[in-house]
Amino acid sequence: MLLGIFVTAAAASLLRSQPASSTRTGHQIFSSTCSGCHGLDGRGGEHAPNIATSQKIQQLSDSDIVRIVENGIPSAGMPAFGKSLKRDQIDAVVEYLRTLGGKGGSHPVVGNAESGRALFFGSAKCSDCHMMNGRGGFIGADLSSYGANHTPAQIREAIVNPGKNTDPAHRPVLVTVRDGRKYNGMVRNEDNFSLQLQSMDGTFHFFEKSNIAGIERQAAPLMPGNYGSILSASNLDDVLSYLITGAKNQPAQRDSDDDF
Ligand code: HEC
Ligand code: HEC
Repeated sequence: MLLGIFVTAAAASLLRSQPASSTRTGHQIFSSTCSGCHGLDGRGGEHAPNIATSQKIQQLSDSDIVRIVENGIPSAGMPAFGKSLKRDQIDAVVEYLRTLGGKGGSHPVVGNAESGRALFFGSAKCSDCHMMNGRGGFIGADLSSYGANHTPAQIREAIVNPGKNTDPAHRPVLVTVRDGRKYNGMVRNEDNFSLQLQSMDGTFHFFEKSNIAGIERQAAPLMPGNYGSILSASNLDDVLSYLITGAKNQPAQRDSDDDF
């Protein structure tokens, strides 16, 4: 069913719809008409359920959602908007809803998820550092739910311009201890007296600060900065598509997922 959403997004892009402007309209209608009940971010309010990232919504087709918005669910307190909103306004709201869920919508992703997976675990080496659904490296963030929480534009930016938006705490460090040994990795924990480092192989190292001769914070991010040039545009689309369609639907309910 995820595939359905994905295919719809791809089809939308082929039709060269005007995503930017209709998303803006959708945003305006959502804010004025829906957010009072469903929350500003669509993740649910006092009066209505999560319609941004809920699994149920993600599995409904766009036309199912349009029908719900048109007819409402009067018995449960969801008003019908078929009279007050025009069909293209409802389409715009649904398109905007899809962006809240982090899936396609106004940022169609046309890549091939299967070749994206092959790149991720193969020549692009993402899995040296990142985990996806229980497989991969430790030094970078687990990306299993990243695609469900970020728009394709944000994901693309994170891959092509690593470190640009990460705070300095996510930069690697080189720790030299008093006996001269050096450790390279990411700081996972730090207080006045101690520092915990995770090195590239995933191992944790615990240091008393009194035992550290020097801490060099590296200026460059650990993640290679040249994906924008070594991945072709279509390879990048493939990786994006894998991160989005391979992503867990519901980060908030991660503990109830059963992939492990
Ligand atoms: C007056 C409050 C209210 C407003 C305004 C409202 N909704 Fe709802 N909506 C609800 C309630 C309550 C439900 C839950 C109905 C149920 O329990 O089946 C709901 C359910 C839904 C569902 C189905 C959710 C599901 O899990 O089945 C969708 C989709 C939805 N609303 C979209 C919208 C959109 C889009 C707008 C703005 C055009 C909107 N709603 C405005 C109260 C509201
Ligand atoms: C040498 C290790 C390494 C490789 C290879 C690597 N990354 Fe990263 N990546 C990192 C680190 C370290 C960060 C920044 C810290 C963090 O958020 O984990 C990061 C950040 C990210 C982020 C942002 C995460 C966030 O939470 O903000 C994304 C998305 C990402 N990488 C995707 C990829 C993809 C896709 C590939 C392969 C095309 C890749 N990375 C290859 C190490 C790597």
